[in-house]
Amino acid sequence: MERQTLLNIESVSKAYTGKAKALDGVSFSVERGQFVSVIGSSGAGKSTLLRCINRLIDPSSGAVEFDGRDVTKLGKRELRQIRRRVSMVFQHYNLVSRSTAIENVLQGRLGYKSSLAGVLALYSEEEKIRAFDVLDQLGLLEFAYRRCDQLSGGQKQRVGIARALVQDPLLILADEPIASLDPKSSRAIMEHLRWAADDLGIACLVNLHQVDYAIEFSDRIIGLKDGKLVFDGTPAELDAEAIARIYGTPYVKERSVKPQGFSDVVEADVMAAAGVA
Ligand SMILES: Nc1ncnc2c1ncn2[C@@H]1O[C@H](COP(=O)(O)OP(=O)(O)OP(=O)(O)O)[C@@H](O)[C@H]1O
Ligand SMILES: [Mg+2]
Repeated sequence: MERQTLLNIESVSKAYTGKAKALDGVSFSVERGQFVSVIGSSGAGKSTLLRCINRLIDPSSGAVEFDGRDVTKLGKRELRQIRRRVSMVFQHYNLVSRSTAIENVLQGRLGYKSSLAGVLALYSEEEKIRAFDVLDQLGLLEFAYRRCDQLSGGQKQRVGIARALVQDPLLILADEPIASLDPKSSRAIMEHLRWAADDLGIACLVNLHQVDYAIEFSDRIIGLKDGKLVFDGTPAELDAEAIARIYGTPYVKERSVKPQGFSDVVEADVMAAAGVA
């Protein structure tokens, strides 16, 4: 299959005022339809990286090229066009809790509307049919008219993904999409994102604390430590040494007496090393 670069991050750095660099010379690229996870300890710069891509924050230096254009150089109007093609999925869903599932999904179309049409929530028949279709694909059709505050966490996140999909994105940026979910719902969400990449050709860049899910679902894994890219490889290449590089070394000594291979790494070890346990 022909590989085509969708996103190219070139020496991106970000320093928040008065702080050490949250991102420090990060470079990597993502192909169309590729599923890439970003792992790293709390504070490593994962969220900062995602926010630099759709310019929720401006990088201090470096270039972010998306679909052939450097987003760091775009004016408001062009930025708005680019943002349509980049959807976000959040840990806490960011749904309008008093609105129904279908209303939340339709909000994914707002970027395509004039502000007046947006305020009046004027959606075309086609958009409505599409929104119901996507809810159906995510197994949520029966909940279309349910208020979002009456949905479970896993269901809310599926609404979040449905909203992301109706945006017709080339890229989904997901910042810890499963951090608030139980294992069963987490798996379902990862499977839906993987399906978006495989069947819809939408690239996914997903921040994760769960290394086991990153290994199972990703084409590639990026490891950040203190704002630097310290790993970029396939799940198979993410060995104990790479894990130590990303999360720090303390627990590796303890594990060196155990059989090697990642399946032997208890997830709790990794979480402890990541400072999240
Ligand atoms: N708005 C901000 N202003 C100042 N510093 C910030 C801001 N956002 C993040 N930082 C700092 O930048 C660094 C990277 O933070 P970031 O949120 O990107 O990390 P993260 O990898 O997403 O962490 P987590 O796993 O806890 O979500 C941290 O040192 C953090 O304190
Ligand atoms: Mg974060």
